[in-house]
Amino acid sequence: MRLDVFFTPGEVKPADVTGRVVAVIDVLRASTSIAVALANDAKGVIPFESADDAMTRAKQFEKGEVVLAGEQKMIPISGFSLGNSPQSFTAEAVGGQTVLITTTNGTKALLGVQGAREVVVASYVNFSAVLAMLRAAARANADITIVCAGNEGNFSLEDSACAGRYVRAIPKRLASVVLNDAATASALIDRRYADNIEKVFKDSTHGQALAAAGFEADLAVAASVDSFPVVPIFQDRQITRLGPERDR
Ligand code: MLT
Repeated sequence: MRLDVFFTPGEVKPADVTGRVVAVIDVLRASTSIAVALANDAKGVIPFESADDAMTRAKQFEKGEVVLAGEQKMIPISGFSLGNSPQSFTAEAVGGQTVLITTTNGTKALLGVQGAREVVVASYVNFSAVLAMLRAAARANADITIVCAGNEGNFSLEDSACAGRYVRAIPKRLASVVLNDAATASALIDRRYADNIEKVFKDSTHGQALAAAGFEADLAVAASVDSFPVVPIFQDRQITRLGPERDR
């Protein structure tokens, strides 16, 4: 089986995702926030390309059924209930509701994946839960693609390091896993930082920008491995939690 990593969504060709199991990573902060929202019992999360699209869709819901969330240039969008700080997706804020979210890179990366067999939203906070799902796919000989959301079309250290953590763990005790060069490079990045994820964020452009903008607390949440052990599956335009109520 193949295990391929793409450092930016722009590099991904249709053949890289069609029929494959795809993991999308935007550690800072969209994939972390989505995992937290689902762990705190959001009914579902729907990603949107733009704030206008999210607001238009919100009108189709009854009041109290829906929460608008997201950021532009890291800052919460005017008129939206939540920004993109993972810790703001509490049970009180999102429990039982559908979250409509738009972010700079993460939601666009998700919406760009077409024709995959399965799409999962991966981060550090749900690492082992998503890893178990990806290892099951690998054991069944499914090809896996990891798409890093990156930062406005550019390589991002934190998404690549997180991808590397998956790349190092997925093939364990499996025969013949073929990596592309980006997968090999991502594994080297993860090995270099080992468990010092806060250092990954300190060294990354987006981590530094978030800290400078006053979002340091978000970095600590995003670095807490396995703190929100959910498997968010993107299917039929909506991300829901894989669990007893939605087994496959
Ligand atoms: C994104 O999608 O680019 C982000 O999650 C940005 C952020 O919230 O800092």
